[in-house]
Amino acid sequence: MKILVTGGLGFIGSNFIRHILSSHSDHQVVNLDKKTYAGNPENLKDLKKNSRYAWVRADILDRKKVDRLMGQVQAVVHFAAQTHVDRSILDSGEFVRTNVLGTQVLLESARAYGVKRFVHVSTDEVYGSKPEGESKEEDMLLPNSPYAASKAASDHLVRSYFVTYGFPAVVTRSSNNFGPYQYPEKAVPLLMTNAMQDKPYPLYGDGLQVRDWLYVLDHVRALDLILEKGRPGEIYNIGGTHSCANLELARQVLRLMGKPETLIQKVPDRPGHDRRYALNCDKLRALGWKPEFSFDKALRDTITWYQQNKSWWSKLKKDKDYQTYYEKQYKWTVVSR
Ligand code: NAD
Ligand code: DAU
Repeated sequence: MKILVTGGLGFIGSNFIRHILSSHSDHQVVNLDKKTYAGNPENLKDLKKNSRYAWVRADILDRKKVDRLMGQVQAVVHFAAQTHVDRSILDSGEFVRTNVLGTQVLLESARAYGVKRFVHVSTDEVYGSKPEGESKEEDMLLPNSPYAASKAASDHLVRSYFVTYGFPAVVTRSSNNFGPYQYPEKAVPLLMTNAMQDKPYPLYGDGLQVRDWLYVLDHVRALDLILEKGRPGEIYNIGGTHSCANLELARQVLRLMGKPETLIQKVPDRPGHDRRYALNCDKLRALGWKPEFSFDKALRDTITWYQQNKSWWSKLKKDKDYQTYYEKQYKWTVVSR
């Protein structure tokens, strides 16, 4: 099978491509990625000479380029998006363009070319905060950040293509991922890389917001299964194995790294910050998925990866885009990086 992966130079997309090519010798991947600040060809440099892999630099909003690739593939796995909640608070325009309009372009093109399978990678954030219990796939969507709202809009579009045209799309909603190749603006890599630099980690608000942590290698296994066996028109939650408050996670990581808790610096809260996410994953488990990695081992492996790949992340942290972003964001986090 030949698969069009969008956003494959990013964190989850690059882990997914590596997983697909190593576990299916008959699959080929075309990676359509614009290479935004979050897209990094180095994430897949080990595949440079792999004849079953190709990267095409393009924007998912460019219908002509999308059409050219869509004609060659049987399936699409759609990761490309603007993904950082804090950035969406500063400027939501690019989030609506990429996440909503970009998804619409892909759906139209995939429908026109008779693509057999379309996996739309979405997020638990579309459900909004869940003070108690677990979000189920049929729950109402109550997104609270511009990022989450743009993802919810794209989920609705995907559903409408299934209902209106019988288009064979599946939506996945996963919880917070962590693991290798995550851009160091997100909480876990920021915490780990700041700790290695003996810089403070800005903890938003009281730090008692609860997230459900999913190791990226378990996420990509779930996506692989859903690509093969997921039922068209269905939504699948993909949850992690470890729910905890942000403060607890920060303490655990610093302890494992042998760094002092004084590196945790409380800063004003993220506006609209969701208090808790929790997913019910019965549907996915019924399909045959269960996590393979224990949280503690995955967290230790992730620390080791960032320790062994300092040149990967220090280059990104020195980048102009990273510096400019933190100058703007400084207004509410007030701690140096
Ligand atoms: P990321 O920010 O690391 O990577 C996004 C990728 O998309 C980059 O390679 C970027 O260059 C590409 N891209 C952005 N705009 C594009 C455009 N217009 N055209 C083509 N390519 C474009 O993202 P990630 O964390 O790997 O997330 C991937 C997907 O998974 C997203 O859809 C996100 O909403 C979803 N998701 C992420 C998480 C998480 O914890 N990271 C959890 C749940 C869902
Ligand atoms: O839940 C899935 C989502 O997880 C994905 O859809 C998003 O694309 C992804 O970015 C992530 O969103 P979050 O906002 O949950 O992730 P982030 O890593 O930014 O923050 C995780 C938690 O840590 C959140 O409660 C905010 C907090 N935080 C984050 C940063 C960057 C801090 O306290 N300090 C920080 O500096």
